Amino acid sequence: MNPPYRCWAEVDLDALRNNLAWIRHRVGPQVRIMTVVKADAYGHGLKQIAALLMQNGTDVFGVANLGEARAIRSVGRGWPILMLGACLPDEVDLAVRDDVMPSISSLVEARAFSRAAVRLGRAVRLHVKVDTGMGRLGVGARAATDLILRADRLPGVRVEGLYTHYASVEDNAGFSQTQRAAFQRLLDELAGRGIPIATIHANNSGALLHEPDTLFNLVRPGLLVYGILPGGARRSASDLRQQVRAALSLKCRISFVKEIPRGTPLSYGGSFVAPRRMRVATLSAGYGDGYLRAGSNRASVLVRGRRCPVVGRITMDQTIIDVSPVRGVRAGDEAALIGRQGSEEITANELADWCGTIPWEVLTSISYRVPRLYRGTQAA
Ligand SMILES: Cc1ncc(COP(=O)(O)O)c(C=O)c1O
Repeated sequence: MNPPYRCWAEVDLDALRNNLAWIRHRVGPQVRIMTVVKADAYGHGLKQIAALLMQNGTDVFGVANLGEARAIRSVGRGWPILMLGACLPDEVDLAVRDDVMPSISSLVEARAFSRAAVRLGRAVRLHVKVDTGMGRLGVGARAATDLILRADRLPGVRVEGLYTHYASVEDNAGFSQTQRAAFQRLLDELAGRGIPIATIHANNSGALLHEPDTLFNLVRPGLLVYGILPGGARRSASDLRQQVRAALSLKCRISFVKEIPRGTPLSYGGSFVAPRRMRVATLSAGYGDGYLRAGSNRASVLVRGRRCPVVGRITMDQTIIDVSPVRGVRAGDEAALIGRQGSEEITANELADWCGTIPWEVLTSISYRVPRLYRGTQAA
């Protein structure tokens, strides 16, 4: 029985549990795991995923805004939450009240948190972000020691963590090495001066695969938790590839099937013209659901276990596919935009390639109107 939706996402909670267990196995018992759940847990549904991760051994959550932190708190109390972005000036009080650990890159930010901590009678645990080559946030590695010392002297705050972020870890071993060396020099300097930092972290998913020497005592995987390997030029060992399982499938229904004669233009702009007599099906999903328009005339979907190419432009709510070689396709049939049917699978990585983007964007583009259905032994 198909679910009563036109387009929906199925999230396999057992796959997520498997992935977290594999990450735990890979990093060992001494290293804590911060699961990155920003952007609605990479489109999988934040509250459900946070609850599952809490039950299965996440140590810390990484978020992009305070709304996400609140959603996590509403599911369970007590887990440390790190705000990975910078807090806006008017978010400082809220972050302190909600006991969210801020990332800071400057003394100005440290002072703002100190003032709020004193005023609100709270203790704030800061994580100092170090820019070793990403360029987005962070204090320069040479200025970091001074910032840590000065921030630590402020009332109400304590520097609990120190971290950096790789910029090209899936592609560029040399640049990653430069970042690693800059961060390590800083750590050596801190150690040499007897400045202890409780929590040190650098590794996202790509770095977990390619930079196993910088696990420190916390790692920050996102994509791997959801069972997707970051692509890129650096190849990870093939045995690693089989260890995680994609948790999310994106599915929709066929709403209409018809035969068209040779020469028929399809969809907006007529970018596809039938080269022969064809049977085409209309899908009840489009870019309004997050099925990216860039996949027009490039992506394929699965119907009855066979790959069927998208023909013509993907529209807001509907997409046309060529089902000529597939027998018996009918309105109401299920189509997999991401996921498995029989022995065939379309991965988020593959769809991302067709759309000229990355799996992170494919997942986080799945829109609010797509219900998330949870499967597996821990599904509610
Ligand atoms: C600072 C930081 N750490 C970790 C992650 C997780 O990255 P990934 O999904 O590649 O594991 C992100 C995600 O963008 C991030 O911004």
